[in-house]
Amino acid sequence: MKYVLITGVSKGLGKALAKAFLYASYGVIGISRTGDQELEEEAKKNGKPFTFLSWDLTKIESLEDLVSQILSLLPKECEELVFIHNAGEMQPVTEIKNLTAPDIHHNFLLNTISPLALTSAFLRRFSTTSIPLQMVFISSRSVVAPRKLWAVYGAAKASIDHFAQSLALEYRGKKSFHVLVIHPPAMDTEMRKRYLKKRSWFFWFLDWISVHILRQKKVYHPDLVAWKILYLIEKKSLPSGSVWRWE
Ligand SMILES: NC(=O)c1ccc[n+]([C@@H]2O[C@H](COP(=O)([O-])OP(=O)(O)OC[C@H]3O[C@@H](n4cnc5c(N)ncnc54)[C@H](OP(=O)(O)O)[C@@H]3O)[C@@H](O)[C@H]2O)c1
Repeated sequence: MKYVLITGVSKGLGKALAKAFLYASYGVIGISRTGDQELEEEAKKNGKPFTFLSWDLTKIESLEDLVSQILSLLPKECEELVFIHNAGEMQPVTEIKNLTAPDIHHNFLLNTISPLALTSAFLRRFSTTSIPLQMVFISSRSVVAPRKLWAVYGAAKASIDHFAQSLALEYRGKKSFHVLVIHPPAMDTEMRKRYLKKRSWFFWFLDWISVHILRQKKVYHPDLVAWKILYLIEKKSLPSGSVWRWE
C-alpha cells in the first residue's frame, strides 16, 4: 500500500488532501495540533489506515522525535511514501513598519524553519530505506506576486520554494526521489477567514462583492484543489523541482 504523510491535517487543504488520498486507497498519517473526527470516520468507511499524530510543529526541538514516531508507523510493505508539507499560517498580516520580531519569528518557524528541519531530520533516517519518496511543499502564489501586508508570509514561502529546488538538485538523477512545489489558488478555508477578519469591514465587503457578485476573484473549495494535487502526484509528469501554479 502507498502512504501519505500530511502536516496540517485537521482542517482546510490538509484535511481535503487526507480525504482525497484515503479515497484513492492510500494509508494516511496526519499531523497537526488538533484532530478531526470526520477523518477517522472517512478512513473507517474506506477501510484504510489513518493515524493522527498530535504535534505542534513549531516546537522544533521535538522534530527528531516526530520523525521517530513517523518511521515507527510506516509498515515494511509501504510501496511508496508521499510527504506533504502543508501546515502553514499567514499572520502577521500588517504593514512592515508594524511588524514585531516575535510575530515574524513565529511565522517563519511554522512556514519555513519547521518544514526545512523536518525534511532534513526525515531524510537522514529515511534515506537508508529503498521506499520511493515524493516530497511536496505547499507554498503560495504570493512568492511570485507579492501582496500588500503579506510581506512575512510571502518571504517565508519564497524560502520554501528555494529550498525545494535545492533539494531536487541534490537528488538529481535519483529516480526514486521526487520534489514538487504547489502554489494553490485562494481557497475557502479558516486561513482565509482569519485573514479577512483582520482586514476592515469595507475590505471584507469588497472581497465578498468581487467573489460572489462580480465573480472577478475566484476562491476555490479545498476539496477541488486537493483532487488536482493528488492527480499531479499520481501522474508524476512534472520534473522533480517543478513549481506548479493553479492558473
Ligand atoms: N487558504 C488559501 O487561500 C491558501 C492559498 C495559497 C496557499 N495556501 C497554503 O495552503 C496551506 C494550507 O492552508 P489552509 O488554508 O488549509 O490553512 P488552515 O485552514 O488555517 O489550516 C492550517 C493547518 O495547519 C495546522 N497548523 C497550524 N499551526 C500548526 C502548528 N503549530 N503545528 C501543527 N500544525 C499546525 C492547522 O492545524 P491545528 O490548528 O490543529 O494545529 C491546520 O490543520 C498553507 O501552507 C497555506 O499557506 C493557502
